[in-house]
Amino acid sequence: MFPLRRNRRLRTTESIRSMVRETIISPNDFIVPLFVVEGKGVREEIPSMPNYYRMSLDNIEKEVRELWKLGLKSVLLFVKVPDNLKDNKGTEALNPNGLMQRAIKTVKNACPDMIVMTDVALDPYSIYGHDGIIENGQIVNDKTSLFLAEMSVSHAKAGADFVAPSDMMDGRILTIREALEENNFINTGILAYSAKYASAHYGPFRDALDSAPVDLIDVPKDKKTYQMDYHNRLEAIRETRMDIEEGADIVMVKPGIAYLDIVREIKNMSEVPVAVYQVSGEYCMIKAAAERGWIDHDAVMMEQVTAIKRAGADMIASYFAKDVVQLIS
Ligand code: PBG
Repeated sequence: MFPLRRNRRLRTTESIRSMVRETIISPNDFIVPLFVVEGKGVREEIPSMPNYYRMSLDNIEKEVRELWKLGLKSVLLFVKVPDNLKDNKGTEALNPNGLMQRAIKTVKNACPDMIVMTDVALDPYSIYGHDGIIENGQIVNDKTSLFLAEMSVSHAKAGADFVAPSDMMDGRILTIREALEENNFINTGILAYSAKYASAHYGPFRDALDSAPVDLIDVPKDKKTYQMDYHNRLEAIRETRMDIEEGADIVMVKPGIAYLDIVREIKNMSEVPVAVYQVSGEYCMIKAAAERGWIDHDAVMMEQVTAIKRAGADMIASYFAKDVVQLIS
């Protein structure tokens, strides 16, 4: 073989390297997470997420127009719910005039072709910071699923294109699909957080929404009874297969970088598109190290989003979406 085959020939110049490049990042790859708060003129930086903001609806409107101009075509909405509206059952989540429902309409009015995806989970609405209803110290599954189905219908009514259940209850994809069909939302899609691990990388997100599990006796201190154990691989396949059978249009693996083995595995078995969530902890690690001058922000950012796509992501939910698109345009 050697020296007839010299692999370095295809790496000689940037022109050759770009000709044989296998993975190309484009604006179509991204879903942009947005944090919405009540108020007017609000644009507050999240302390553990430098250069990422909670915004009131007027600023969300501006932001969405800007994203659209940059070529970004989908957003994933999260709301920060005022404490006085939180309870154990997520009552406020069904308010037709709630913050999420108004946010959906705001985005659709500003940018009708922007794909609006909505977070479906109880935690921002829960006094306990859990993704499910708590009874006798347990997160109850089936009641929570039925509630998430109602929440999904409420988002669909407000104009959501996709609902994105991030809770990891068993059977909720089927429950949600049936509720959407019964209410004639046949074209509202489901992006299922199928392989979502109980990860230590979600801290800054919980700061952003003030949604961390509370420290109380009789309330589970973490989400390990519903989110997956990170020691496991086969479980991710089982979860994803079931979500596809139950009607998920897109499945998701979360977090990203530390789970690329799972991403590849899911990509190989899934007949539906695979999304990956590059989560808040991944974002802040790059920001913090770059702030100290220890790494090159843009280079590491590009390397990581490319690695996620190379591993099998058809789309990436990422706080870097705007930075990446501005860099490559
Ligand atoms: C909660 C939810 C979380 C994220 C998305 N939806 C946090 C959690 O499960 O506690 C994390 C996203 C991130 O860290 O960027 N339903």
